[in-house]
Amino acid sequence: MQEDRKQQSIGQSRYYLDALDQASRLATLDRPVLILGERGSGKELMAHRTHFLSPRWEEPFIKVNCAALSETLVESTLFGHEAGSFTGAIRSQPGYFERVGEGTLFLDEIATLSLRIQEKLLRVLEYGEFERLGGQKTLVTRGRIIGATHGNLHSMAEKGEFRNDLLDRIAFDVIHTPPLRVREDDILLLAEHFAVSFVRQLDWDFFPGFSEVVQQQLLQYSWPGNIRELKNVVERSLFRCKNPEEPISEINLDPFQSPWKNTKINAANDVDLVKRKIQESEKSQKIIQETIPEKISEESLRDFKGRRENWEKQQILAAMELAQHHQGRAASILGLSYDQFRVLWRRFN
Ligand SMILES: Nc1ncnc2c1ncn2[C@@H]1O[C@H](COP(=O)(O)OP(=O)(O)O)[C@@H](O)[C@H]1O
Ligand SMILES: [Mg+2]
Repeated sequence: MQEDRKQQSIGQSRYYLDALDQASRLATLDRPVLILGERGSGKELMAHRTHFLSPRWEEPFIKVNCAALSETLVESTLFGHEAGSFTGAIRSQPGYFERVGEGTLFLDEIATLSLRIQEKLLRVLEYGEFERLGGQKTLVTRGRIIGATHGNLHSMAEKGEFRNDLLDRIAFDVIHTPPLRVREDDILLLAEHFAVSFVRQLDWDFFPGFSEVVQQQLLQYSWPGNIRELKNVVERSLFRCKNPEEPISEINLDPFQSPWKNTKINAANDVDLVKRKIQESEKSQKIIQETIPEKISEESLRDFKGRRENWEKQQILAAMELAQHHQGRAASILGLSYDQFRVLWRRFN
């Protein structure tokens, strides 16, 4: 827990500051909170923050990953059990709702709770009441609940997989942790933060920075795994770096990519080959048909601008496909600067 207290929340982009602000305001209010966001977008850190800014900050912060436990284990972990209530329950044990005291219980991956446990949780949220597994005595908890999930609770509720009444009760207010791709101002800030921390572990004298190309790559990538993915990418690139004196000039966004796959990508940089590939593709056949009229007449040449735009759009899409949606690579396939490419990409996208 000490470790967690020290963990810094980095970020200055508008969406992130809005979410932080909301967490700070909710912290002081004694209500349950729901945190929604993509994986790796900082839900757990946001829950910590909400706890440490609340009047409960000196009380325990307990995290339960509901997805990692079987139904019985979640149940006994949360509510506790009496001896003999299930096979292996030799001694009676208090659950987290008792042990948390007046602290915060963070239920991560709350969408994975079974309907039966959701019902018990609803009772805790409404009346603070529960019983240990196999127990008769009704106990009362004073802990605060913060739930989090990357799932879509609304659509789960529509399908009957998540209780509507629980959703209403736990979502007194919802904090949305923004995905990293909309936090453009924060990408390099976070990358540098993770790099500096990792440099200490590697025992380097200093962090030499990222090269311009790497910075562009970091900014262009869409980060489906968000901050967790960024941290891994940065640490991996430092770990693999052979010359710690020079700015980091290589990053590997996909460690699963086969080293031999690169040969194909390099070959794809050969402009002639790429042109041939584009022409071979079905898409190009269509473009040619659409952009070069069969019979040239005044009528067929009239919408020059429209046809040119259509052609450009198709070329850009084809290049993006070849570049596996990497904008920098697509730009170089087309022989455009990154900025020129971005202008066209924004126009057509
Ligand atoms: N604002 C931030 N500043 C620094 N590190 C962060 C920030 N948000 C998240 N992290 C780090 O990113 C990783 C993923 O965050 P986490 O809270 O576990 O995400 P989630 O619970 O949404 O999957 C963790 O290592 C966490 O410490
Ligand atoms: Mg998490």
